[in-house]
Amino acid sequence: MSFRSTFLGAGTYLPQRVVSNDELARRVDTSDAWIRERTGIGQRYLAAPHETCAVMAAAAARAALSSAGVDANEVDAVLLATSTPDQAFPATAVRVQAALGMTGGFAFDLSAACSGFIYALSVTDALIRSGQARTVLVIGAEVFSRLLDWQDRATCVLFGDGAGAVVMRAGPADGPGLLSTHLHSEGSTGDLLYVDGWAGRDEATGHLRMNGREIFRHAVSKLAGAVDEALAANGLAYADVDWLVPHQANKRIIDGMGRKLGLPPERVVVTVDRHANTSAASIPLAFAEAIGDGRIRPGDLVLMEALGGGLTWGSALLRL
Ligand code: UT7
Repeated sequence: MSFRSTFLGAGTYLPQRVVSNDELARRVDTSDAWIRERTGIGQRYLAAPHETCAVMAAAAARAALSSAGVDANEVDAVLLATSTPDQAFPATAVRVQAALGMTGGFAFDLSAACSGFIYALSVTDALIRSGQARTVLVIGAEVFSRLLDWQDRATCVLFGDGAGAVVMRAGPADGPGLLSTHLHSEGSTGDLLYVDGWAGRDEATGHLRMNGREIFRHAVSKLAGAVDEALAANGLAYADVDWLVPHQANKRIIDGMGRKLGLPPERVVVTVDRHANTSAASIPLAFAEAIGDGRIRPGDLVLMEALGGGLTWGSALLRL
């Protein structure tokens, strides 16, 4: 029996506290105008101490299960993409498993920086296609505010906190669902975007460091390749894509990809203006928002792509 991974439901969690560009401009030498013009970011959500990775991931997971109409005990696997787990171990995913009251299945974290959700979708697809899991909860959750250097204006204005989750389930191989995922990494570029220590729930000993200009350059070329690869593998053309749900790092990168695909702006899901860059959470947050408000509909072809520290990058094509 062969399967395809079909989408059942999505959910999100955003912290209570919204921080505007103007508020940041009172702490570091920046301005609302610079941040908006160079990145498209207008505000971000920042977690309070009690809003840990596990707490936010579990909240997004509950919302996804509820929208899917699936009970937590039907879930066979919980995959949590994060670079900001609460602890080195146990995996934050098992904390989520406990918070959901699951009595079976298995759970683990997956680390691929901003590409984490695409990586998690790919592993999910392998588990489902092989018959090892029937129903999988795929979560991206991040508290990047805990690993930012709040004195460094070049990075602290760029990121936000949040969580997004989707429920995937085995369906017929000739039905809708995940058509493909493509993953890449390039360890030789690992020092372009990294954390120089450990970041967890409490006092971080490391901070995010980024060569923004170089990352931008790699993002434009590598994401173009990942998108072309996804469509070619499925015998599809740019015109077949209904929605682009990109990683939300910079509006200029997102707009460039929309133009390459020939998509009108209203077919590109954008949250970076309100969420900033939430790393592994950015795609499920954007996707869940566009599912929730009825923009993305059954039958639509959705293209996802992301690039992040590693460098890691990849793409996913999903037929709703
Ligand atoms: O999610 C992982 C993937 N990450 C990305 O895809 C991020 C990719 N990179 C970017 O999005 C952009 O490179 C940034 C938004 C990070 C930076 O934009 P940029 O247009 O590449 O600016 P830049 O780094 O070249 O800096 C331009 C100027 C510099 O001043 P000088 O040297 O020209 O005098 C910076 O010091 O802007 C200055 N600058 C700032 N000014 C005001 C840097 N950060 C700020 C700031 N406010 N926050």
